[in-house]
Amino acid sequence: MPPRVVLVGLPGTGKSTVGIALARRLAVAFADSDKLVARQTGRSVSEIFRLQGEPVFRQLEADMIAEVLVSFDGVLALGGGAVTTESVRQGLLGSGVLVAHLRARQDELLRRVSGGRHRRPLLAGDTAARLAELAEVRARLYAEVASVSIDTDGRSVDEVAAALHGQLIGQPS
Ligand code: S3P
Repeated sequence: MPPRVVLVGLPGTGKSTVGIALARRLAVAFADSDKLVARQTGRSVSEIFRLQGEPVFRQLEADMIAEVLVSFDGVLALGGGAVTTESVRQGLLGSGVLVAHLRARQDELLRRVSGGRHRRPLLAGDTAARLAELAEVRARLYAEVASVSIDTDGRSVDEVAAALHGQLIGQPS
């Protein structure tokens, strides 16, 4: 069985926090591809990037996503760069699952990724410039896979989860 909904978007768009809130509303489980890969390998995502490199991480990520797309029926959040892998995009499109793209303004993303302890190897250095670059390169990839696009600016986690919940049960929000 495929997930009820898959959340995609740049780092800092709130995929995990919104995903957890949405899973609670739907009374289903929540999973995050980064955490699944970390659990499987016994390494954090930043360790995998540092010790094995990005291509190895992307392969582990794609394999994990292919597996959960057929075996997990909760709410699934994907790492922000998962859509850069062609097989992931094909898998999402072929699964028939509702893919929701969470969006936020660049200044808001920068604020969110700058706080907290979550380490993101691809944002190291000039984080604002890196984020802008990722946004530009990935915009069309998110648009390709997502059937719903949700703006998170100025909305609480619960408001975004409620909007998505409405989409899932076919009500306007
Ligand atoms: C990445 C985003 C991260 C994680 C890895 C690469 C990316 O996940 O998968 O650091 O390429 O944007 P989050 O989107 O949960 O931060």
